[in-house]
Amino acid sequence: MIRKILCILCIIMMTVSTGCSKGEDETRDPGLVLGFSQIGSESAWRIGNTKDIRDQAENYGVGLMFENANQKQENQIAAIRRFIAYKVDVIAFSPVVEEGWDNVLEEAREAGIPVILVDRNINTEKSGLTTCLIGADFYREGVMAAEYLIRKADALGMDQINIVEITGTENSTPMRRRKAGFQDTIRDDPRMTVLESIDGDFLKSRGAECMRYFLEKYGDTIDVVFSHNDEMTIGALPEIEKAGFAPGKDMIIISIDGGQEAIDVLKEGKINCVVECTPKLGKELMETAIKLKNGESVQEEIHPDEAVFSDEMDVASIAPRGY
Ligand code: AHR
Repeated sequence: MIRKILCILCIIMMTVSTGCSKGEDETRDPGLVLGFSQIGSESAWRIGNTKDIRDQAENYGVGLMFENANQKQENQIAAIRRFIAYKVDVIAFSPVVEEGWDNVLEEAREAGIPVILVDRNINTEKSGLTTCLIGADFYREGVMAAEYLIRKADALGMDQINIVEITGTENSTPMRRRKAGFQDTIRDDPRMTVLESIDGDFLKSRGAECMRYFLEKYGDTIDVVFSHNDEMTIGALPEIEKAGFAPGKDMIIISIDGGQEAIDVLKEGKINCVVECTPKLGKELMETAIKLKNGESVQEEIHPDEAVFSDEMDVASIAPRGY
């Protein structure tokens, strides 16, 4: 009982300290306390993901102890340590990068607190540090992006295709898996050359910087921009226009996420293809956390279904995205 009261007090204190408005992180039913460490607020996707997790915690009556790590792994490690100290029932986190979690996850295991990975994975030699992963199949997203490109190249009768790639955060799961899925799918197509890949860190400002660099170096030899998220794509587009090219026509633009802003630009014809990556993981997270608290077994990996939106379809019919 004392443990629960302390947890509720801590949730209230952390809501104040992270600047969240009152009501966002409140506990209606203190039956289950979930500590969640979010990566940051780098993209519309991430903001949509945070909102969904908060909304679903409220729907399920789960007490959410939410921390925003502002893109720093050390902040996530410190947050997980606080969750352990507060003796939450379940810990969940979206690891900013894959390596470097063993020590803190050992501490969670010693404390007997189950850990759920949300959105991204970790890379470790140790088994059993986490219970399950709820997130997109990033490899499949890379495959779907490349499959679109192959169809588009066929339709346009292209025989040489030069690609520049703006990747997500170095050493993060979506960066590694999207890149691998894309590469593996174009590998046997002799028309395809990736001129260069650079790290855009999933940020709009970095998307613009990477694009300026590519345009200076490769100019009109660029046929395709493959960007690992919408935010970087939106940053890159004005640079392409400033350089005198029409995105979506002079260059094929492929993005990932499927947020509203990118879908609107797809409808304008400046993006050719957006592979969906849904941020709506909150429902699965709450249901999994409740099962773990009740000692039930859970599925090891849960991947949501994802679609491809492109100029091959009637884009006007795409429903509002909600993020
Ligand atoms: O991990 C998911 C990725 O992280 C999304 O594609 C990106 O927009 C976010 O920042």
